[in-house]
Amino acid sequence: MNAAPLVRYPLTEWIMRRARRVGPFARGWLGQPYAYLIGPAANEFVFAHDSHFSQYEAMKALIPVDGPTSVVVSDPPEHARRRALVRPGLHRTQVAGYVDTMARTASEALDTARSGEVVDGYQMFRAAIRRSTMRCLFGERIADHADAVGEALDPLLDLVVMMPQALGVHRKLNTPRWRRAMAARAKLDAFVLGEIDRLAADPNQEESQVLAVLVGGRDGTGSGLTRDEVRDQVVTLIAAGYETTSAAMGWVLYGLGGRPDALAAAVAETREVVGEGPVTVEHLPRLRWVDAVVNETLRLYPPASISARAVKQELIFEGHRIKPGTMIVYSPYATQRSPEVFDDPEEFKPERWLAGHKPRPGEFVPFGGGAHRCLGSVMATTELTVMLATLLARGGYTLEPQRVRAAGVTSMRPQPGVRIRLG
Ligand code: HEM
Repeated sequence: MNAAPLVRYPLTEWIMRRARRVGPFARGWLGQPYAYLIGPAANEFVFAHDSHFSQYEAMKALIPVDGPTSVVVSDPPEHARRRALVRPGLHRTQVAGYVDTMARTASEALDTARSGEVVDGYQMFRAAIRRSTMRCLFGERIADHADAVGEALDPLLDLVVMMPQALGVHRKLNTPRWRRAMAARAKLDAFVLGEIDRLAADPNQEESQVLAVLVGGRDGTGSGLTRDEVRDQVVTLIAAGYETTSAAMGWVLYGLGGRPDALAAAVAETREVVGEGPVTVEHLPRLRWVDAVVNETLRLYPPASISARAVKQELIFEGHRIKPGTMIVYSPYATQRSPEVFDDPEEFKPERWLAGHKPRPGEFVPFGGGAHRCLGSVMATTELTVMLATLLARGGYTLEPQRVRAAGVTSMRPQPGVRIRLG
């Protein structure tokens, strides 16, 4: 049996079949009118018409999790202001300063297992990414209790992976799952507010973590985020970043593990560049195989396989009228698996990126686009690069024969996990 047969995601496969039959535009009904806009031109159309959508209407079910001032649920003009104040904390130069933390966290995770041992690589790196996320957000000071804070979050994250509509049902019925999540949110709020107050009391301390940038940031008018706004953005960054990046890491292991020849080439290159490790920021531009593997994973297994926009102002796409009140769905997965966009779309081929493939606009959109494009894309790709390079520098792995499915709604992840034998 092939150790890594292609995994299909039923929800988006259905949308793709529909697009193949009726073209890039189709209507549907899911408690309200839906329109599927599929393919590069459709993606570009969605990203170019931000002013016609209400992000609040599309994402408001997330408010109990992310908070009412989160960038994810904000509309203009607040959205642009909050986004501008969050962006510096996740800027490339800032992320470069987190590489050592990421590498150390990956090494600590790998130190818990022996060479030749079979582990669930998805779970192992999921825990490492959670720990590294907490350290990058809050600084080394919380390193010792990063796991405790992270674990307290689980009931909250358990809720984020659902469809917003399903989340609304849990809220209405006040289910045990909902109550656990709200208790977790209250615990996290208390922790984050405590950290904000600590930083605000002593703004001169040398702290480079994301939280310090959020607390200290000022826009052109000299105003910054309020205490509640900072709290909501911090929770949002965890909610938006942790599940997606861990899911991507699971698919990295699965996709690359299914290509032993590419895996061997990636191990050889990484060992040449990094030696025994640790991975540093200077190594990153020379890790061409790792970079290609990350890109190919985000193409074939984009964790955000679909996303939505709520129409507030009428639109016309290729002659189709889309009325206010319609929910638009676009799909990175459907686009990036289309034979019209990529050659051999269902094969895991990092080589296509090594050969310098440059996608055209709308063709490669794992982080979305337009005004709501992912704020954490550099953080995510850096985390994936550093985690994978650390594993490869320590001898790599082989994929165990297994059956993996794609699960989750807001974040497509490998289930039940990805079993690997450490090299
Ligand atoms: C592989 C990992 C990730 C993937 C695939 C991903 C994907 C996406 C996508 C597709 C969107 C846009 C959704 C839309 O069109 O509505 C988005 C938005 C966002 N992402 Fe990510 N993301 C990842 C990691 C991260 C990380 C690590 C962070 C933060 C540390 C982050 C923070 C955000 C935020 C704050 C937004 C909302 C931006 C806004 O509405 O203005 N993401 N992400």
